Amino acid sequence: MNELTNKTILILGLGMIGGSLARALKSFDQKLVIYATDPNEAALQLALKEKSIDRAGTLESLVPKSDIIILAVPPLSIEKILSAIVKHVKPDAIVSDVASVKGHLLEPLKKFDEEFVKRFVPGHPIAGSEKSGYAASTAKLFKDRNVILTPLKQNSLLAVNTIHALWRSTGASILGMAVEKHDEVLAATSHLPHLLAYAIVDVLAAQEQSEDIFRYAAGGFADFSRLASSDETMWSDIFIANSKATEQVLDSYIATINRLKDAISRKRQNELIDVFGRAKESRHRFISKYFDASKIEDMTPTKTSFVMDVGASNTAIGVSGNLRVPGDKSISHRSIILGALSTGVTRVKGFLEGEDALNTVAAFREMGVTIVGPDDGELRIYGVGLHGLKAPRKSLYMGNSGTAMRLLAGLLAGQDFDSELTGDESLSGRPMARVIDPLSKMGARIHSNEQGTPPLKITGTKLIGINYHMPMASAQVKSCLLLAGLNAHGVTEVIEPEVCRDHTERMLEGFGYPLEKDQNRCACRLTGGGELAATEIEVPGDISSAAFFIVAATITPHSNLLLEHVGINPTRIGVISILEEMGADISMANERVIGGEPVADIRVKYSKLQGIAIPIDQIPLAIDEFPVIFVAAACAEGDTLLHGAEELRVKESDRIDAMAVGLTILGVENEVFDDGIRVRGGGIGGGSIESRGDHRIAMSFAVAALRATETIVINDCGNVATSFPGFVDLAQQAGLRIKAVAK
Ligand code: S3P
Repeated sequence: MNELTNKTILILGLGMIGGSLARALKSFDQKLVIYATDPNEAALQLALKEKSIDRAGTLESLVPKSDIIILAVPPLSIEKILSAIVKHVKPDAIVSDVASVKGHLLEPLKKFDEEFVKRFVPGHPIAGSEKSGYAASTAKLFKDRNVILTPLKQNSLLAVNTIHALWRSTGASILGMAVEKHDEVLAATSHLPHLLAYAIVDVLAAQEQSEDIFRYAAGGFADFSRLASSDETMWSDIFIANSKATEQVLDSYIATINRLKDAISRKRQNELIDVFGRAKESRHRFISKYFDASKIEDMTPTKTSFVMDVGASNTAIGVSGNLRVPGDKSISHRSIILGALSTGVTRVKGFLEGEDALNTVAAFREMGVTIVGPDDGELRIYGVGLHGLKAPRKSLYMGNSGTAMRLLAGLLAGQDFDSELTGDESLSGRPMARVIDPLSKMGARIHSNEQGTPPLKITGTKLIGINYHMPMASAQVKSCLLLAGLNAHGVTEVIEPEVCRDHTERMLEGFGYPLEKDQNRCACRLTGGGELAATEIEVPGDISSAAFFIVAATITPHSNLLLEHVGINPTRIGVISILEEMGADISMANERVIGGEPVADIRVKYSKLQGIAIPIDQIPLAIDEFPVIFVAAACAEGDTLLHGAEELRVKESDRIDAMAVGLTILGVENEVFDDGIRVRGGGIGGGSIESRGDHRIAMSFAVAALRATETIVINDCGNVATSFPGFVDLAQQAGLRIKAVAK
């Protein structure tokens, strides 16, 4: 049984897209009943003969018998056809289209009955080619291609999930975008290139030596001009329907072309290199943001280095101003996971659009969840319920994120399908036994490689609840087991040795899932098989990202910085407690609770610091902030001593070693222990530091440069985008003299 079982599907328009959809659906399930209409009788007859459709007929005769109706017609015909079918559709029929423009429908849709609009889910398979007509259709057209759904705010969950299931059955990956975003993105990525192809072929054909141009055209030109043989009526339709977005992108294109022309005529090579280099870099960023990063072949991230000037800020005002750091990474991951498992549509604001969280979005899309966005931090997640995830068709890539891998391991262990989790080089070396061991006690079947590291091969199975005393204070292990517990039989209880971050518990409560907490025993427990109800989530700024600026302002004379809207969950504010004990001047204002998470504006002023022995109970509460706390320690008077923090050795890098080596290069005395470090306060020199691809090491040394006597270069900083996209811009805004250079 799936969403398409026993459904009759009507395809209006049996051209290349409509025909390919019919074929793909038939090859997914021979038993699906498919009807079609088309003005081209020959196409219908051929389709009947080939058995890619079961019946052809008129719109009036077929619409009343159909459960799902797909309008595979050019953009400007959609309104007319919707008007024609609305009086014939079954009251529960679900309708969609395939047009490459969406915005032009919003106004006309207002005049349709609300009940009908709930069931019209706009869609767009990005699988067109210069070919057209039923004869060009193939069953594999959509396989491994993207289909964009642009659900309307009024759409019902069932309608969205059904259209998702329909396209998924063709082998496509389903993305979600807001209507406006879709039209902007398509104007830039598809419509503009088509316009340019038409224009360039037209220009060249009019030249005297056109014969020669076409005869000797190299492969590049053939490739480029291929678009100019696309269907002219369809494309004129597209430009008319998407005129606003196309005009906008065309204006910037014309401006750039004029700039390039000028640079060429003035022989300004640097300017050309600048534009070309930027274009290459943005292609990487743009595509990885909107599409599945793991699909792009030339994704080798540019090796970015940060270069920091001596005493890298304005000495008169220090680090000052008002800043807002991006959304909390832990909460962002969890919002996708719980939103996907809930029933209903979850809206998220303030989502962190960093690479780690985007990989989690891609993973849930792969498991059949429609996710619209992120767009300016906003997301809509169309939940599929606790038992609604679909088997992923490929391994799920978790990038740099231990959180995503460990939490998903718990969730996937109890599914009725198998899965595989992979990650980047750093994640592939991180310990997973800490989740595999307790999950195995619940009955899970998970296979790692011999060292207990990823990839994880998970055989879905039935789980039973356990009572588990965690050997380390890890929110990832706790959350993994709670997620496994949702699908397990009976009660799952987790007891932590020290309090660690509790976002999962808070968010489960926000989704209405019953959870018991026993503060005295540091325990929490839930019973499997319940339900999560969709909710609204506002992700506060990430205190782990704010920490870099808190230390930056603390160690730089004259600083006075306000960090707005930062999450101050008591299980995350170890960095503030530790810095305050060292003498920092930090105050909170405007404290409030948003969506179950405490939030405040944090003011930080320069202050002289004193070395301390870091209290052991603060370690889990500041676990991600130690690299930058060591930088504060290097600026303090006397020694700062940390013991009991062996967990730092198994983060994105061995953070004790990475920091000790870097600090030594900068002339900061330190002594390393298995479970910590002693940092001697004093001067910071300059030098070239390896961040080891660890985002927090890179940003910590950028902060160190504020007190350095010489330039600091920090290598391999590309991964800063995993947790803090826009770090360099924000740092510059706060007065830091930092430059990112591609190497
Ligand atoms: C996280 C928990 C912490 C932290 C990580 C995020 C989470 O890891 O270091 O960055 O979101 O649960 P551990 O649970 O391994 O300490």
